[in-house]
Amino acid sequence: MATLKLGVLGSGSGSNMQSIVDAIEKGELDAEIKLVLADVKDAYILERAKKHGIPAQWLDCAPWKTKLEGPAEDRCIELLRDAGCDTVVLAGFMRIVKPKLLAAFPMRVLNIHPALLPAFPGVHSWTQALDYGCKVAGVTVHFVDAGTDSGPIIVQKCVPVLEDDTPETLHARIQVQEHIAFPEALAHLAAGRLKVEGRRVRIG
Ligand code: GAR
Repeated sequence: MATLKLGVLGSGSGSNMQSIVDAIEKGELDAEIKLVLADVKDAYILERAKKHGIPAQWLDCAPWKTKLEGPAEDRCIELLRDAGCDTVVLAGFMRIVKPKLLAAFPMRVLNIHPALLPAFPGVHSWTQALDYGCKVAGVTVHFVDAGTDSGPIIVQKCVPVLEDDTPETLHARIQVQEHIAFPEALAHLAAGRLKVEGRRVRIG
């Protein structure tokens, strides 16, 4: 199968992007990161990318705060295409992506979500799991569809919720699994192992 040409969108520290870089460097993932875009000007993900020589830039998504739409969406698609991306990775991108981007990269947009979907979509999912009294929490990597955190699930990993957990300790435990799950899902995609049948993703 062809090497994945990844465009990464993020908003924060970029530890998930780092796990993808590490997997590529170790030869565990047949991919190249062609471009990193962040909707937050000083997001650390941009620094991390530059340290690895990956082109990275801020994408001004105004006037919207929670979605990628309009001229910013058009610009995003143009930048990803110009960089030669064939797959888009949402690595802590805190905006809803809209149908135009999804149509530009059909079944090629993947997201990581810090919960065992379909439980706790949206933001601060680990806090939602803790407040709900869950005994397990986890992470989901899924294809993105037009809903919020609702696309076909590729990989999930569980972690225990401990008696003395705070939102921070639980999120940290989930992030350890995130950094395994995202490279794993991308490696399946790169190897052509993912078959999507309705909601079900078979790994074969
Ligand atoms: C991760 O925990 C990711 O699952 C979450 O943001 C964090 C980004 O961390 N994503 C979402 O909540 C998306 N709804 P990172 O910048 O260190 O990769």
